[in-house]
Amino acid sequence: MTNPLPAWSALQTHYEQIRNEQMRDWFAPANDPAPTRAERYTYAGGGLAADFSKNRINDATLKLLVQLAREAGVEQRRDAMFAGEVVNPTEGRAALHTALRATEPNAPFHAQILAEKAKMAKFADAVRSGAWTGYTGKRIRHVVNIGIGGSDLGPKMVVHALKHLETPELDSHFVSNVDGADLWRVIEDIDPEETLAIIVSKTFTTLETMTNARSMRDWFVQHGCPEDALAKHFVGVSANPAEVVKFGIAKENVFEMWDWVGGRYSLWSAVGLSIMIAIGPQQFDELLAGAHDMDEHFRTAPLEKNLPVLLGMIGIWYRNFFGSQSYLVAPYSEALHYLPSYLQQLEMESNGKQARLDGKFVDYATSAITWGEPGTNGQHAFFQMLHQGTTIVPIDFIAVLTPEHPLADHHPKLLANCFAQSEAMMLGRTEEEAKKIAGPDKPELVPHIMFPGNRPTTTLLVDALTARSLGALIALYEHKVLVQASVWNINPFDQWGVELGKILGKVVEADLTAASGDVKAHDSSTSALIARARAALKR
Ligand code: F6P
Repeated sequence: MTNPLPAWSALQTHYEQIRNEQMRDWFAPANDPAPTRAERYTYAGGGLAADFSKNRINDATLKLLVQLAREAGVEQRRDAMFAGEVVNPTEGRAALHTALRATEPNAPFHAQILAEKAKMAKFADAVRSGAWTGYTGKRIRHVVNIGIGGSDLGPKMVVHALKHLETPELDSHFVSNVDGADLWRVIEDIDPEETLAIIVSKTFTTLETMTNARSMRDWFVQHGCPEDALAKHFVGVSANPAEVVKFGIAKENVFEMWDWVGGRYSLWSAVGLSIMIAIGPQQFDELLAGAHDMDEHFRTAPLEKNLPVLLGMIGIWYRNFFGSQSYLVAPYSEALHYLPSYLQQLEMESNGKQARLDGKFVDYATSAITWGEPGTNGQHAFFQMLHQGTTIVPIDFIAVLTPEHPLADHHPKLLANCFAQSEAMMLGRTEEEAKKIAGPDKPELVPHIMFPGNRPTTTLLVDALTARSLGALIALYEHKVLVQASVWNINPFDQWGVELGKILGKVVEADLTAASGDVKAHDSSTSALIARARAALKR
């Protein structure tokens, strides 16, 4: 698989040269007496640090990767995005999530963004203080965010991560799935008199969100909320305010986002209303400030020391030269539990593409499969495969150095595991070492206790999980996605790939729920599945 850029073929040659080299040799005192490898490959930006030293890279690799980034026009794509140019040509739009956290008065749409943020803050303060009440005069205790994809994953991830900053007066809930169980499990336990629903949908046409929103409205009415008091319990967030009003939400309770904010990049906009209600306007500003710190770093740091560039290019190194199919994100932090699923949408919906910007098809791999789970849980589930399996999966470890909870004695154990895993992935265990452990009585054990090692990991270090550091961490990954998209010459801001399933879903739903008629219009497998389900639904 090839890419015509000169640095791409230089990297192919370089890969052949170093593919059999062992990281453990690079770290060995004989080759790195000072030692300096960790220091040489650790970079800082936006308040975060990243140790890239346990990757299959040397100075020449990094030089070529940065050269590839330059040849691919990463800087031009970055600058065009910040300037508000149409960087999403298939939808004819800019992608201005960075403007949502910009502080410069001349940033694109600045006045409009500030005005909407002030409206959000006024509302969030009223809910948090108890001034905003439900139809019986009780204060709001439950905030239910109804949305899916970008209208769910970002806010849910952030609210969970910053739970230690959440007001104790309120509980946040997130409902996304059209499976009624998702909504039911939330509403069966809460009191409608104390509940606020935030319906979040950029388009306000999404099947799952509209279905859940309608069921939620029925639930309020069935529990005694008069139709004309529903405004006390519903607000909407959308780039399609007319549809929100049509749904029945009062005009003054509609918060706007804009078509130049992509769904998966939208938590910084009014889509983050549930975040602002949970942690307050001031902390929300801190979240934005952290993202802005990373924006500034991305915009101004030399590519050689630029965290999103290095993270993105090292990802390219494994995906396109080592042929890695997937990469793992392992936050050693329960607070970051939902970061992997958030990143799945960010990375795979952005860069899971086959058409280049010029309309031709790529003949190289694009987005890797993103997956992950917090440590240490993953260690007791799938890490076996990472250590001794036949597939190399590069890993991003995320370590938060100070805990956000009072159980301080857990923390050294957590961090020790994180660091030990990256050490073990790098070192492995040689045959000699395995023989010593097995001893003369058990030579048959040797192959089973050998570890190939040389498995690449990056360790991201966060001093403490604050709104600011979280903002920087999220923006780091947003920009990493742009870096990779630039090299792959694809558009990371559209998502045509989700359309076909949606269109066919409507046809299948009509067949499933039709009172009569046959369903032979599908392939034999789909028709048989529909027929079986129809019989079950009629029972
Ligand atoms: O189906 C994919 C998608 O369009 C995502 O890109 C988006 O985040 C999600 O659906 C929800 O869309 P909306 O906010 O318009 O309801």
